[in-house]
Amino acid sequence: MRPTIKDVAKKAGVSISTVSLVMNDRPVSLSPETRAAVLEAAKELGYRPNQLAVGLVTKKTNTIGLIIPDNSNIFFAAYTNHLEAAANELGYCLILGNSNGSPEKALHYLHLFADRGVDAIILAQSEFADPEMTKKCLETVRSLRIPVLLIDRLFRTRSIEAVVLDHFEGGYLAARHLIDLGHRRIGCLCGPLGLTSFQERLAGFRQALEECGIPYDPALVAEGDLLVESAAAALPSLLRQKVSAIFAFNDMMAYGVYKELYRLGIKIPEDISLIGFDDLFFSDVLQPPLTTVAQPLDKMARAAMLRLSQILKDESAGECLTQLFHPELKVRGSTSAPGKQFFERPANMK
Ligand code: RIB
Repeated sequence: MRPTIKDVAKKAGVSISTVSLVMNDRPVSLSPETRAAVLEAAKELGYRPNQLAVGLVTKKTNTIGLIIPDNSNIFFAAYTNHLEAAANELGYCLILGNSNGSPEKALHYLHLFADRGVDAIILAQSEFADPEMTKKCLETVRSLRIPVLLIDRLFRTRSIEAVVLDHFEGGYLAARHLIDLGHRRIGCLCGPLGLTSFQERLAGFRQALEECGIPYDPALVAEGDLLVESAAAALPSLLRQKVSAIFAFNDMMAYGVYKELYRLGIKIPEDISLIGFDDLFFSDVLQPPLTTVAQPLDKMARAAMLRLSQILKDESAGECLTQLFHPELKVRGSTSAPGKQFFERPANMK
C-alpha cells in the first residue's frame, strides 16, 4: 500500500499540514528537529508526494504532453530528445504519446493528456490524409482547456501556436542545388501529399524549376510513406523516366534509395545524384555521405518550449505566434553534375 501524507504525519508526530510544508519545501519557520523528523519518517516509509494531488492544489504539474506520429522515425526521435532537454531546462518534464500516424490515437492522446492534468500539449501529428480527421483534430485542440503548440505539421490556421520549418524553402533549396549542378530531369520521392508540409516542399521544388525554365513533369513524382521500404516501390517509375537526380522528401526514404540503387548496380552520384531532407545523424556516415536539407531541431525545440513557458506564465501578451525556421542545405558527396548516360538536355533549356 502506497504510504500517504497521513502516515508520515503520524510517524513523525506532527500535523499533516506540517508534513506538506516540509515536503514542498515551503519557506516557513519550522525547527530543524521537526523538519528532520518529517524527512526521516518520509524516507523510512518511502513516501512520495502524489503529483496529481499537488496538481489539483497548485493547478499545475510542470508536465508537458508530446504527441508525435512515429517514434520509430529517427527524425521524431531526435526532435523528442531536443524537446525533452529544452523542457527539463525550463523545469518541465515531458510525457510522450506516439500516435503511429493514427488520427484516432492522436485524438485519444489529446484527451488523455488533458484529463491527466498536463500543463500543455505539443502536437506534431496535426494533419492526416483524411481531411475530416484533420478537422476533428483541430476542433479537439480548440476545445481543450490547456495551451497546445503545433510543431512540424500544421493546420491551415494561424489561430494555434506553432513552431515550424519553412518547408517551401526546404524544397526550393533542394531543387536549386540540383539544377545548379546541371540536372534537368529530377525525380521527386515525396512524403504523403495529403500533408501540407510535403505539399509545401513540392511547391518550393516547383518554384525552383519554374525560375530555371524547366517544365514540371508529374511523371517524375512518386509518393512514398516516409519509411525506408517505400523507396524500393517508388524507384522503378523514376528510373524508367531516366532521371539524373532524385530528391527524397526525407532521409529515411533516401536510405531506401541507396539500398535499391546499390542492388541495381547504379552508383551515387556518378549515375544518379541524391538529396534527402532532415539531416539525420546517419546521413553523414553513409558512403557517399548524403546531401540533405537540415532542420534546426535544437532551435525549434527551444523556441517551442520557451513559448509554452511564456504562455503558462501568462507572459505571451495574448498573441498567437507561428514561428518559422529556415532549413539549411548540407552539401555532401551524394550529389554532383549529371552522369553522361542519364543526362538529357531538353530543347528549350536556357
Ligand atoms: O521523416 C519525417 C518527415 O516528416 C520529416 O521531414 C518531418 O518534417 C516530418 O514532417
